[in-house]
Amino acid sequence: MSRDILVTSALPYANGSIHLGHLVEYIQTDVWVRFQKSRGAHCVYVCADDAHGTPIMLKARDEGIEPEALIERVAREHKADFDDFHIGFDNYHSTHSPENRELSELIYNRLQAAGHIARREIQQAFDPEQQMFLPDRFIRGECPKCGAADQYGDSCEVCGATYQPTDLKNPVSVLSGATPIQKASEHYFFQLGDFEAFLHDWTRSDHLQDTVTRKLDEWFEAGLKDWDISRDAPYFGFRIPGTEDKYFYVWLDAPIGYMASLQNLCARRGDLSFERYWSKDSTAEVHHFIGKDIVYFHALFWPAMLEGAGLRSPTAIHAHGFLTVNGEKMSKSRGTFIKARTYLQHLPAEFLRYYFCAKLSGRVEDLDLNLEDFVYRINSDLIGKYVNLASRSAGFVHKRFGGQLADQHDRPALVQHFVAAADPIADDFEHLRYAQAIRRIMALADEANAYVNDRQPWVVAKQEGRDAELQAICTTALELFRLLTLYLKPVLPVTAGRAEGFLEIPPLDWQALTADLTGHRIGKFKPLLQRIEQDAIDAMLAASQQDLAAAAPAAKSTGQQKEKQSMSEADEIKIDDFTKVDLRVARIVKAEAVEGADKLLRLQLDVGALGERQVFAGIKSAYSPESLTDRAVILVANLAPRKMRFGVSEGMVLAAGGDEGNGPFLLAPEPGAKPGMKVR
Ligand code: MSP
Ligand code: ZN
Repeated sequence: MSRDILVTSALPYANGSIHLGHLVEYIQTDVWVRFQKSRGAHCVYVCADDAHGTPIMLKARDEGIEPEALIERVAREHKADFDDFHIGFDNYHSTHSPENRELSELIYNRLQAAGHIARREIQQAFDPEQQMFLPDRFIRGECPKCGAADQYGDSCEVCGATYQPTDLKNPVSVLSGATPIQKASEHYFFQLGDFEAFLHDWTRSDHLQDTVTRKLDEWFEAGLKDWDISRDAPYFGFRIPGTEDKYFYVWLDAPIGYMASLQNLCARRGDLSFERYWSKDSTAEVHHFIGKDIVYFHALFWPAMLEGAGLRSPTAIHAHGFLTVNGEKMSKSRGTFIKARTYLQHLPAEFLRYYFCAKLSGRVEDLDLNLEDFVYRINSDLIGKYVNLASRSAGFVHKRFGGQLADQHDRPALVQHFVAAADPIADDFEHLRYAQAIRRIMALADEANAYVNDRQPWVVAKQEGRDAELQAICTTALELFRLLTLYLKPVLPVTAGRAEGFLEIPPLDWQALTADLTGHRIGKFKPLLQRIEQDAIDAMLAASQQDLAAAAPAAKSTGQQKEKQSMSEADEIKIDDFTKVDLRVARIVKAEAVEGADKLLRLQLDVGALGERQVFAGIKSAYSPESLTDRAVILVANLAPRKMRFGVSEGMVLAAGGDEGNGPFLLAPEPGAKPGMKVR
């Protein structure tokens, strides 16, 4: 019987864009799902937007719209991003849905009936102006330990101390600047301690990676505390049954959103049923893919909630590490905080899929996107080894044999050797050792190219009477290419589709291992992938910096708050942060195209007293160089110089838009402003 598998990725918050860090997870999961489907498993992959919570409520308020309108807009964006990265969800839903409300109430009612919910009054910070309770991250003040100014309510970024918001000196509400007062309110708690024995056992029974189990041990030793699952109005979420103004804390209904998305899919797919996956006696597998920052919620609260509600617990939780770019935390000012959409405007999705897979080990380790290595790996592996194998053989087959392949292989043993690699490669994919799988596949690609170099079809082609030999060599080379495509298909689904197209074969899956190209007729070869040029990377970094420039002055503190290690990319800046940016009027002395860069223009700027500057700007799509001479622009004059392939960029000019073929539009002062003038 084939395996029956339900797979989820963590639900992204509905108040921000998908960035490359998120994509580590969605790509890791999607590759696993595609691999399972290729192997013939019955596999269903669901996800949703995580739409509730204070940050989302406040962001909507800032924008002057209803939270429902905000989450609808963000859901559309998220879906488009995921589609374009070929993340093949079987369903993408929302936690703000009727299915989720019903399931959350059901689970809560069961926990309540079984005596796992406690109620007690707690004291909490309250903003007297905004008339609302303040989550820890919405309070700032001086660190009680080191005295550092302007620290969050839960931890100090300077000395690393953690504490209660009540410990802060001179606290202020981030929302209004008012001094928070202490106010009592009744809260609802899930008694995690009731599940101590169950969890102790569950966390040691092969559901988790070893490092995760060890981390959880620290929490066990500290004692399992009650979990506060209620929030007072105003809150964007589901009201707790039987209350007037208490809402489920976002993290209560978020994992239930996995179920809600499945439920929503079941309504459309007659072949699925909710019970098949979630009933206590289900024989299906349930796999959750998550980042290391949300292990606590998935490996303790979630199984305990399920157990308490009489439902089955997950088969496995797979935690991954965090993404760094060029060895450092993603940074908006360095341009390495790259949104999914910004990446897509400059590079093909599959390159990132390949690179992440080449780096993913299946352990809870951070992984680095080193952009130089990225360019090198893609060009050398995908173009140099994989695509090249097909392009150097397919041409002969087309020109000399009308697309007809030989009836016999030139090197059957080599083909057999490739087929025999299927099991170890499958084992690597199964255990999320993608880097290891890619190493094996690329080692095969090396062997295939060595074979072609050895047989020299281009020499054979020039000699008379060796046609049959030439045809057999090309047949073997294309067979090896076909098998490489089969192995790479979970990672490169679109390219694999194109390869199937020109080989004129049905969609490849693991069963196609036993198929064979001998005697087959193929179509005309079409280029599958193009090399990356460094200028695409430069333009992507420049565009990411511009995303920041566009967002910075208007940014308000609606960053997603969570009880977890965050990206520490606080969205709000202080006036001093803003005045740190030295904005100047500049005059374009000269603009010119840059050879080898299709998006960039080189601008020579006159910045008055600051002298002349050279800046590379990604505005070529919207401006001809001639039209720019003598125009006034706004320059970020104190940006650290950045070395690009064409020279050093000494600042950045501001422009609006530039997304989806709209713009960019250069910002300019009113006539009369002189080069070098400060902009405030
Ligand atoms: N909404 C919660 C998850 C609820 S699941 C019931 C959440 N959302 S998130 O948008 O912050 O993150 C979604 C997923 O992306 C999480 O698994 C998180 O670990 C992962 N990542 C977010 N930033 C990341 C990196 N920089 N690197 C790798 N993964 C990252 O948490
Ligand atoms: Zn401190």
